[in-house]
Amino acid sequence: MSLPERVVLVGPMGAGKSTIGRMLAKELGYRFLDSDRIIEERCGANIPWIFDVEGEDGFRQRETAMLDELSETQSTVLATGGGAVMRPENHALLRKNAVVIYLKTSIEQQVERTRKDRNRPLLQNDDPEGVLRRLFAVRDPLYTKLADIVMFTDRKSPRLVVRQLVNRINPKTPRHKRQRRKEGRQHVPGTQRA
Ligand code: S3P
Repeated sequence: MSLPERVVLVGPMGAGKSTIGRMLAKELGYRFLDSDRIIEERCGANIPWIFDVEGEDGFRQRETAMLDELSETQSTVLATGGGAVMRPENHALLRKNAVVIYLKTSIEQQVERTRKDRNRPLLQNDDPEGVLRRLFAVRDPLYTKLADIVMFTDRKSPRLVVRQLVNRINPKTPRHKRQRRKEGRQHVPGTQRA
């Protein structure tokens, strides 16, 4: 088995998609991309501002356009927003030439990891835990259905998760070969090199 063109991370807020994605990209010799951060860079505004001014619907339109654009990339690890699975038209975009990984995390971990966050509009209310529970009930079946690999992250360090993922994605590729793939990666405007 050879490495997939893209690795796409899905899962709820607080699952560790960005942290694990960045480390996994390094390990595979791939570029790391984060769809939310690119949306913010392109828009020149942060996600709370986009939700405020354009509503969740406006944000979802931008998200679908971004997933469409990023579905053409190669040698990339893409971290997606927790709601990326909500639009059925996104599913084919997420799966295109990709191994999809669901970073599965307990509600308790999600609450803990998002506790102090002010950048997630859906959680700025009196009952963020209730919101996370309701979102999980709707989205967990979608993440599971889309994923080639379901990886539990509770009580695991990001390093351990990455090691287990590398083994699941391609157990046979030695490290020196993965390193070589760093050369020849294309640049996506509005992103930084990993
Ligand atoms: C959202 C998750 C966020 C971001 C937006 C909406 C969601 O991304 O896309 O606030 O609907 O779950 P993270 O999962 O990276 O926090």
